[in-house]
Amino acid sequence: MTDVRIEAVNASRADVLAALHAACLEEAWPAADIGTLLRQPGVFAALASDAAPVGFMLWRAAADEAEILSLGVLPAARRHGIATALLEAAVVSLLAAGVASLFLEVAEDNRAAFAFYRAHGFSEVGRRSRYYRRAGDRDADALVLKLTFPVGKIT
Ligand SMILES: CC(C)(COP(=O)(O)OP(=O)(O)OC[C@H]1O[C@@H](n2cnc3c(N)ncnc32)[C@H](O)[C@@H]1OP(=O)(O)O)[C@@H](O)C(=O)NCCC(=O)NCCS
Repeated sequence: MTDVRIEAVNASRADVLAALHAACLEEAWPAADIGTLLRQPGVFAALASDAAPVGFMLWRAAADEAEILSLGVLPAARRHGIATALLEAAVVSLLAAGVASLFLEVAEDNRAAFAFYRAHGFSEVGRRSRYYRRAGDRDADALVLKLTFPVGKIT
């Protein structure tokens, strides 16, 4: 998957982001909600596209901290570095904005995501008990992960 293109997108692509979200994650986010999020200051999105969109990332930045709101790659396109390319693109823009640390929450049983974030230097800094409410006694804790950038604002 060497020809993947990463592009910054805004609320006008909420439909595409919502379709990817539904295909990649257990919980669907309506396009209207994604559009509302992306109209807020400090909220950004990127799409990864091959022949068609295959992955996305949504994040929020405020002052010197940022948070990954959602990240997903279509099942058939995984393990080809697409999430890595999305994360790297976001980090470049966060570094330029002077952000010092990037946080996220991940379900403790989401082994792929945990492995992905650990491979990129995130470490566990907290846990929220039964944060993910699921049917049938499948509630899961959220692990709070953090990546601290080694350098400050690029001037
Ligand atoms: C987590 C996710 C975004 C990773 O996307 P991806 O494009 O497959 O990730 P990459 O190819 O960039 O992976 C980079 C590295 O992360 C690690 N990694 C990624 N997926 C992994 C898995 N299933 N098992 C173990 N390690 C994994 C590996 O070290 C991998 O490098 P390698 O393939 O050379 O071994 C993808 O599995 C996904 O969409 N999952 C469902 C949605 C989700 O859970 N999102 C995160 C919510 S917080």
